[in-house]
Amino acid sequence: MFNVEECEIIRLPKIHNEAGNITVIENNRTVPFDVKRIYYLYDVPMGSERGGHGHYKLQQYIVALSGSFTFVLEDGVNTKEVFLNDPSKALHIKSGIWREIKGFSSGSICLVLASDVYSEEDYLRDYNEFLKYRKG
Ligand code: TYD
Repeated sequence: MFNVEECEIIRLPKIHNEAGNITVIENNRTVPFDVKRIYYLYDVPMGSERGGHGHYKLQQYIVALSGSFTFVLEDGVNTKEVFLNDPSKALHIKSGIWREIKGFSSGSICLVLASDVYSEEDYLRDYNEFLKYRKG
């Protein structure tokens, strides 16, 4: 189980060109886990909030492909807010972290690379359950 300080911003490789940039994410190289699932949030109405859960095991890389939003991370003791607005940076969310997502700009796209396929059993959806889990 990890704490919020261990959920860091990772600088992704960026191939800079005046005609446009390329950022590459390679399995088990730029991402330190096997990517088993990719999904993205889009068409999020401004002002809406998402997230509000934790995961027992799942690890994720989060990238603001377009626009911006803020992830609020909690480990049961500390909270950390991470503003994402750069497609060449990823937020690594490790296991056991509660997250909320807020402040979506209009047209924003949130890319998520996940270490496992979807499994509802891996979710901590109740905040008090999460705190209990963290306190062991
Ligand atoms: P959830 O992860 O709770 O979304 P968010 O944290 O962004 O608010 O997922 C919302 C719904 O979508 C929930 O009913 C589960 C479903 N879902 C899948 O079926 N597969 C997936 O890979 C994901 C991420 C969600």
